[in-house]
This record gives sequence, structure tokens and C-alpha cells, in this order.
Amino acid sequence: METTEAIEQAALSSKNRGEMAHADAIGTVGSENCGDMLRLWIKFKDEKDGRRVIDKASFQSFGCQTAIAVASLATEMIRGKTASEALALSSQELAAPLGALPPMKIHCAQLVEEALQAALAPEKKAPSSKISQSPASTLVDQLQPAQGKIKIRINPRTS
Ligand code: FES
Repeated sequence: METTEAIEQAALSSKNRGEMAHADAIGTVGSENCGDMLRLWIKFKDEKDGRRVIDKASFQSFGCQTAIAVASLATEMIRGKTASEALALSSQELAAPLGALPPMKIHCAQLVEEALQAALAPEKKAPSSKISQSPASTLVDQLQPAQGKIKIRINPRTS
């Protein structure tokens, strides 16, 4: 399957979309390249061996198909990993199931990597992130001042 087709299919069948109540970590980022935005919610659980691992993750994106596809893959990929294991995943690893991304789509996967960093290591704030990490407001609320400059694609489905 070609990368473009893989991206389209992954975006159309994306999983874990929507806000998560009582998340332990939230990361919101915006791309300076294209104005797209992405927010990740992460919930942890404690394993019997004492490890604290990611139980589940969800995302909301006002972004392109590639960002949606990679975010969906990432929310599945990080499940069962510790925060440091999840942080070790590069944008290439997160997007690997889609094939090699075209150069103009590489930043879409980087946006997802940055959202992970914003959620799990906010002290190392992603360079392109200009978005407040306040969980009090929704992603839609945060878009209000920037409307007109940003593409908006609402993904209300949670699964
Ligand atoms: Fe900007 Fe994909 S085009 S995140």
C-alpha cells in the first residue's frame, strides 16, 4: 500500500479520538509550519511490578490527515509503556506503520512527538509549541483567538 493510501486509511479508521476525563497528563501543541493543532490526553495505571505505565491515551486534532493518522497510531503504540519509554519514541517510529512520509508531511509526525513531550515532559517544552498547557480550556477554546489562521477539523467521535 502506498504511503498516501496508508495515511488516508489510518486517518479514516483512527482510534482514541476525543477528550479524556480525568487524564493524568495533557499535551497541546501547535505547528508553526501550518497552524495545525493537536492535544493528547494520557492516563496511567500502576502495574503489579510497580511500574507506572500508560493505560490509555486519546487525542483531538485540528490538523491534517497525517497528523490524525500518526496521533491515532501513537495512542495505540504508547499503551503499556512507561513515560520514559513513550518519550523515547521518535516521530519516525510513531509514523513507521504508514511508510516513509513525504518531506512536506514529516512535521505532521513531529507534531505528535511534540504533543507527547508536552504531556510527559512539559519541562522540555517542544520548540514549536506556543500553546498553553492549561487543561481547563478545551482545544476549541484555545483556538478562539487564532481563528481565521487555523484550519479546524473537529473529531467528536470517541472510541
Ligand atoms: Fe501541518 Fe500536517 S500539514 S500537521
